[in-house]
Amino acid sequence: MINFEKAVERRGTNSVKWDSMSEDILPLWVADMDFATVPEVTEGLVELAKSGVFGYTLNSPALFQSVIDWQEKQHQLKVEKDTIVFIEGVVPAISVAIQAYTAVGDAVLINTPVYPPFARTVNLNQRRLIENELEEVDGHFSINFEKLEAQFKDEAVKLFVFCSPHNPGGRVWTAKELEKLGTLCQKYQVKLVSDEIHQDFALFGNKHHPFLTIHPDYQDFAIILGSATKTFNIAGTKNAYAIIPNEDLRQKFKNIQLRNNQHEVSSFGQVATELAYLHGEEWLVGLKAKIEENIEFVVNFVNQKLPKVRVMKPEGTYLIWLDFSAYELDDKTLQKKMLKEAKVYLNAGISFGQEGSGHLRMNLATSTEIVNEALTRIAKVF
Ligand SMILES: Cc1ncc(COP(=O)(O)O)c(C=O)c1O
Repeated sequence: MINFEKAVERRGTNSVKWDSMSEDILPLWVADMDFATVPEVTEGLVELAKSGVFGYTLNSPALFQSVIDWQEKQHQLKVEKDTIVFIEGVVPAISVAIQAYTAVGDAVLINTPVYPPFARTVNLNQRRLIENELEEVDGHFSINFEKLEAQFKDEAVKLFVFCSPHNPGGRVWTAKELEKLGTLCQKYQVKLVSDEIHQDFALFGNKHHPFLTIHPDYQDFAIILGSATKTFNIAGTKNAYAIIPNEDLRQKFKNIQLRNNQHEVSSFGQVATELAYLHGEEWLVGLKAKIEENIEFVVNFVNQKLPKVRVMKPEGTYLIWLDFSAYELDDKTLQKKMLKEAKVYLNAGISFGQEGSGHLRMNLATSTEIVNEALTRIAKVF
């Protein structure tokens, strides 16, 4: 059993999270973890390394099967082998989907605030970005479906890039919400890309529903993006996949992949994904317990010692959205105060969209000791 009480020392390993800032800063930002992955993954990668041969590699039947079994067992999503398309990352898959399903100038909708590469990718591909702002209801983000329908209609939206579970708010969308979305997509012929990279982090008894489990007809217009990399802290091995049951949508996706020469994936990524899905279930149970503990810790700490900060308690993901707007600081000053005075680095809320102004996102996939240290530093300054 892995010990999630102690963080692995990551400084000096070229870690984006730890090594892109000076040593006096405590980094709780980019979404990777300070824990070692599933031991069988490490062993498998060592075996591969020992072979000394790293040539071009086929996607093995065992790799396909590991994805099929994981999706069925964890999420009750039945996946046919031929519908799985491997790619190096979920973010690259978003680019491919945008290029495959829309043309320059087409409207692509996202909810805001959301994971920054969504807006960036739409903009860099010269599509028209339509922002559907999430609304805070009872301490959680909620979709304004009336506004969404008006935007689908008035803006002639072609594609919706959807984040499920939601980063940064940690919403685990209910089946009812997903059905409403699906109905609107059908009505206005909007295609939907469901980024489900956080699918394995439904917490506190919430259940993640893969979009394609909501209704069989959703296969006609929706695809799912997933990976083992976020769940098992193997993002550096670069491996992800799209699940695309509709043949036309799948062919369009593959055509763009080929056009970009993005159809081959790393052998290390393939081994890591397969072994994580085969052996990672118990490890994940332990990790999720630690994340839930850290979330409760933050909520209690903030309530007691940072009463001006509002916490959005997540239903899923290992991220927590903190509202510092009561301090009435502009975003630059907030970020600077956090970095220079508290010496803690969190993601600036504003990078997730205008609604993120005055907010910061904290990554809790680390030891409670580090979370405590970060909050103690923050409480001294704020
Ligand atoms: C919603 C979401 N999608 C995609 C990614 C990254 O995907 P990848 O590393 O596979 O490109 C992240 C990473 O934090 C994320 O939060």
